Amino acid sequence: MQHIALGTLDVSRIGLGAMGMSHGYTGAGSDDAEAIRTLHRALDLGVTLIDTAEIYGPFTNEELVGRALKGRRDEAVLASKFGLVSHAGGGEWNLDSSPANVRAAVEGSLQRLGTDHIDLYYQHRVDPETPIEETVGALGELVAEGKIGHIGLSEAKVATIRRAHAEHPVTALQSEYSLWTRDPEAQVLPLLRELGIGFVPYSPLGHGFLTGKVRSEADFGADDFRATNPRFTGGNLERNLHLADEVQAIAAEVGATPAQVALAWLLAKGDDIAPIPGTKRVARVEENTAAARVRLSEEQVARLDALPPAAGGHHNEEQMRMIGR
Ligand SMILES: NC(=O)c1ccc[n+]([C@@H]2O[C@H](COP(=O)([O-])OP(=O)(O)OC[C@H]3O[C@@H](n4cnc5c(N)ncnc54)[C@H](OP(=O)(O)O)[C@@H]3O)[C@@H](O)[C@H]2O)c1
Repeated sequence: MQHIALGTLDVSRIGLGAMGMSHGYTGAGSDDAEAIRTLHRALDLGVTLIDTAEIYGPFTNEELVGRALKGRRDEAVLASKFGLVSHAGGGEWNLDSSPANVRAAVEGSLQRLGTDHIDLYYQHRVDPETPIEETVGALGELVAEGKIGHIGLSEAKVATIRRAHAEHPVTALQSEYSLWTRDPEAQVLPLLRELGIGFVPYSPLGHGFLTGKVRSEADFGADDFRATNPRFTGGNLERNLHLADEVQAIAAEVGATPAQVALAWLLAKGDDIAPIPGTKRVARVEENTAAARVRLSEEQVARLDALPPAAGGHHNEEQMRMIGR
């Protein structure tokens, strides 16, 4: 496995998103044993960047990752997130990045993860009620205390990234980026490069769509978050199938799988980008990790670059309100 630097943090070229093991997708939480085997297989394959968050479950995903990392903590660059659970009584899905909440959150995460430090600790969503300088100031104190190694942001807009980085160096931004979600290219990626901040694309497989395995709404359950995602509903899934078909066509040309092509395209975008494809299955972590060896020609990258925009927004309205702040 190749490695790259996110800011000053060394990580594997491809990471592993653990969210779907406990949260969000059909089947989440139904097979913890396979999920733990998947995490172990990832480590065996040289994957270091393991991504979780307090809100996944909530809490159960961090517990699962903690169980999997028992005895293997040092092999991982462990990333988690705070800010979507208010510990002062607001509860889950309540934005709170106040310094007091940052402190409460990190203690819980450390306990569930069974570790004395989190390598990369992200604010999950910007809290409009708390100036970013206050949040990052509190995170800087956690760095000084050794409770976290590095600071990250997620789905922050450029002005917020600049303000945060001026307060304390930010190591990575984690935002949605994939063949069908290109939003970070215009402003965010250039800024990250100017400031020397790494980029971690989440949902790099387009929530599984780009793998070609999701062809109809019947492929996921009503409890799956894709059942409320505009790209997967209201006829847009069918309208978008041509995008997955083009990825499949290029996969056939290079002798790879569509998932590998979706990841190889991201890798071709720069050596400051470490995607975190999510899976709860051993076979798929093997497949996704092997994308680090897939090479696309310039012409193939250009064809993928030229794919038309997807039909439907990449988040539902409620989630859209929380991003780009
Ligand atoms: N910062 C944020 O706000 C944020 C938001 C969303 C996600 N994330 C992070 O990003 C990670 C990745 O995003 P994601 O999981 O939402 O989306 P993703 O990686 O784009 O796709 C995951 C989906 O694709 C399926 N899949 C994975 N590999 C596959 C393969 N080779 N072939 C066919 N299907 C495959 C998975 O199913 P199986 O599990 O059944 O294989 C799952 O349904 C998450 O785990 C989480 O850690 C962060």
